[in-house]
Formats: sequence, structure tokens, C-alpha cells
Amino acid sequence: MLRSLGQIQNPLVRSITAASASLAIATPIAALAIGLTNPKDRSANQTGVYASVLALVAGAGVGLIVKSDRDNSVKAKDSDNNIWKDWRDFKVVKKKSESKEITSFYLQPVDGQDLPDFKPGQYLTIKLDIDGRDRPVIRTYSLSDYPESKDYYRLSIKRESSPQGLDVPPGVASNFMHDNITEGSIIPCKPPRGKFYLEVDNSVPAVLMSNGVGITPMISMAKACARQNPQRHIWFIHGARNGEYHACSEEMNAVKESYPNLHIHYCYSRPRPEDEGKYDSQGYADMQLLQETTIPHIQEKHNGSGEAEYFLCGSPSFMDSIREGLRELNVAEDRVYFESFGGGKTKGKSEAANSTKGEVDSAEITFANSNKTVTWKPEDGTLLEFAEANGLNPDYSCRQGICHTCTCSIQEGEVEYLESPDSEPDEGSVLICVSRPKTNRVILDL
Ligand SMILES: Cc1cc2nc3c(=O)[nH]c(=O)nc-3n(C[C@H](O)[C@H](O)[C@H](O)COP(=O)(O)OP(=O)(O)OC[C@H]3O[C@@H](n4cnc5c(N)ncnc54)[C@H](O)[C@@H]3O)c2cc1C
Ligand code: FES
Repeated sequence: MLRSLGQIQNPLVRSITAASASLAIATPIAALAIGLTNPKDRSANQTGVYASVLALVAGAGVGLIVKSDRDNSVKAKDSDNNIWKDWRDFKVVKKKSESKEITSFYLQPVDGQDLPDFKPGQYLTIKLDIDGRDRPVIRTYSLSDYPESKDYYRLSIKRESSPQGLDVPPGVASNFMHDNITEGSIIPCKPPRGKFYLEVDNSVPAVLMSNGVGITPMISMAKACARQNPQRHIWFIHGARNGEYHACSEEMNAVKESYPNLHIHYCYSRPRPEDEGKYDSQGYADMQLLQETTIPHIQEKHNGSGEAEYFLCGSPSFMDSIREGLRELNVAEDRVYFESFGGGKTKGKSEAANSTKGEVDSAEITFANSNKTVTWKPEDGTLLEFAEANGLNPDYSCRQGICHTCTCSIQEGEVEYLESPDSEPDEGSVLICVSRPKTNRVILDL
């Protein structure tokens, strides 16, 4: 019963359910006891009523005490990962080109201590000191391997060029990694984290679908399953322009050799003659491919059932169209997981600064660690923008509620989100890049 209670997320509902269950158990027992003793005795009846009330209160109490499974799983995840707290130095022990645009970096901790395990699909946050920048550049990268030896982490990074037709500088961190980071370079990293991961032990078939650099978390997921749950059927679908842009294809083909339940499908949109035999279809990784090829294959392998979990990572248009297509096929939302790599937003006022909608017109914000209390107005924008305007330097990366780099503990008050974060921060924390005050007083650990 405690286990079932734990599956109820809302503490009030959990408490009412536990109270009702206790009452349902206690009442017939009390009635039976009264019946067996002396039904006409008033004191016996009173005892029965007391027993029921006691059961009701005790049940409600148990409901409040029992933590929901999700609370526990978040805590477990954090404690797994919290082997180190803030930044830890890692040395690049190997640098390997994976495709025309993607290069892998193998990292080992400088302190020589063990590496905490991670869930396949999680990411690492890195910090780069780049000449000419007034502050370190922080970025997040998916862990792209699931090594048996557990003695390194691997990141596979795409060199981001300037968007076509825009006269803007190319990607800061990715180009720095490609051009300036070599074997022997030291990079500070935060522990692995992220809620986009594959529960390896699950037996439900999984479709890992990606395009471009979105392949990185999928490699880790497929390799974890190959080692820890090879009974599970995995469909690994990846779209690339052609063989030149297709990262880690040989590595994945080698995984397949010893993992017959891994079904790989590569789609090349513009294959070259020399790619012949290296891809499965010409075109894109899209809904048509899922409906005409993958889902029938899942049904064939699972006695007609097309039930599966979907993991998506790639360009925004790719993810939007697959999510929409799966919705139309009535695939339950909780079966579809996705990771957005976002697009770095440049520092500057967000739309929040122009928005007049919101719960409060002004708020007293205390940045506790900086010993500063200042008054926020809607035109000050997000709490991150407000902190920066007041001389603070909080960490950030995406400024879009994706990467959690700006996570900050909140001691008092509440915030409201201007854009829903991709995943909720842990209890007691807020993402300051996409939020502003919801109460007249907010105290942040900044
Ligand atoms: C959870 C997560 C996991 C990720 N995993 C990976 C991964 O495994 N591999 C990977 O390669 N990436 C990954 N990313 C993306 C990565 O974090 C970076 O966003 C990416 O490398 C780009 O960073 P950058 O500093 O090179 O580019 P930025 O400097 O942030 O620039 C991004 C783009 O904006 C353009 N730009 C610059 N200025 C402007 C302007 N004024 N107007 C418009 N455009 C402009 C740049 O030319 C560039 O194309 C991940 C992101 C997240 C959130
Ligand atoms: S900076 Fe990425 S979530 Fe706030």
C-alpha cells in the first residue's frame, strides 16, 4: 500500500487516499468487534467510533509522511550524481574527429578519483576561459558514450558556424573546443545531470530518433542497453546529410554486431556515390519513415503491439514535426521524451522586459550571498537580467530554460515562469533566466 501511495504525486490527494483506506479498513474491524462483544453497550460503540476517527487521522498522517516516488527518484538521481558539487577539473585525454563537423573529447578527472555513474542521455556542463571574454563561457553537452571502463566521459561537439545569411560571429564555445582545446587541456565540469534519459531496465521497446548532432545522447542510450539489457528492442533512427556529416556510424555498427535487438536505420538526405551501402533510405528521419517502416517493425517484433517509448533529439523543426505526428497517432505524451539543444541566445533584454503581464508590479529582491536588496520592476526583465544589471555574475548558458545552468536556490517567495522550462528544476530551486518574481518579496541564494 505504501508503494501505491508513493505513486500519488500530490501530498493532499495522497493524504486523503491514505485516510480513506485506513477508515475503510478500521470501520468493519470495529463493527465486527462490537458485534462480537456487546452491540447494545454504548461504550463499545463509542470505542468503535474512536477507532475509526483514529484510523482516519493516522491514515492522513501516513499519506503526508510518505514521499511520492517522483520526489524520491529526483533525490536519488541527485545523490547519485552529487559526488562532486561545483566545478571539477578534467583533462582532455583524447580528441577524435567523428565527422566533418563533430569532434569527440574524452575527459578524465585531474584528481584521479572515481567518476560517478550517470544515466544514458544526461549531459555535462563545462566552463571555458576564452581570451577576450570578460567571463567564462558555460555550455552543456550530452555524454555521448557509455564506457564499460567508467573511467572517462566523452563529449561530441559540433562546430557551430554562423547561420546562413546572418552577419554574426560563429558559435563561441564549439569553435573554441575545435580550434583551441587539445589533448592535455584542462576543462572544469559540473556533475552529469538532466532528466532526458533512458531507464535501461525497462522492457518497453524504445525508438531513439535523432538528426545531426542530436545523435549524441542516443549513442549513450543504445550502448547502455547493449550492455545492461540486451533483451530490449531498440530502434536507432538517425538522419544525416551524407556519410561526411554522419558521426560515430562505425561505432554504432560495431555495437549492433553484438546486440541483435538493436535495429539501426540511417537516412541520408543528400547521399554521395561513395555512401552507397552505408545508409538505409534516402530522405529524412520523419513521420513517414516511422509509420511505414519502424512502427510495423515494432508490431512484428511484439505480437502486433506498436507500443513504444520515443526519445527525440535534433533540430527544432524535426522535433516539432515528430512530436506533432506522434500526438496524431495518439501516442501518450508520457511516452515521448525529447531534448532540445536550443540555440544560444545572446545576452540582451528578453521579451520579458517588454511584457506587462505578471502577478506583481514590483518586488523586493534580496540576493542573499551578495548582501544586496533591490527593487524589481517588470521592465527589469528576468531575474537573471535583473541580477546582471545589479552587478552580479550568475552562471548561465542557454538563457532559454533548457540547460539548468542558471539554477538558483530560493529561500523565500515565489517566481513565475515567462517561458515554461523544458524540465522543472528541483524543489527549492528556480531557473532565473526565464522567471520573474511572483510575490512581493523574493530571497535568492545569489
Ligand atoms: C542539454 C543540452 C545538451 C547539448 N548537447 C550537445 C552535444 O552533445 N553536442 C553539441 O555539439 N551541442 C550540444 N548542445 C548545444 C551546446 O550546448 C551549445 O549550445 C552549442 O555548442 C553552441 O554553442 P556555441 O558557444 O558554439 O555557440 P553560441 O556562441 O552560443 O552561438 C550559437 C549560434 O548562434 C549564432 N549567433 C551568434 N550571435 C548571434 C546573433 N547575434 N544573432 C543570431 N545568431 C547568433 C552563432 O553563429 C551560432 O550559430 C547541447 C545543449 C543542451 C542544452
Ligand atoms: S541558462 Fe539555461 S536554463 Fe537558464
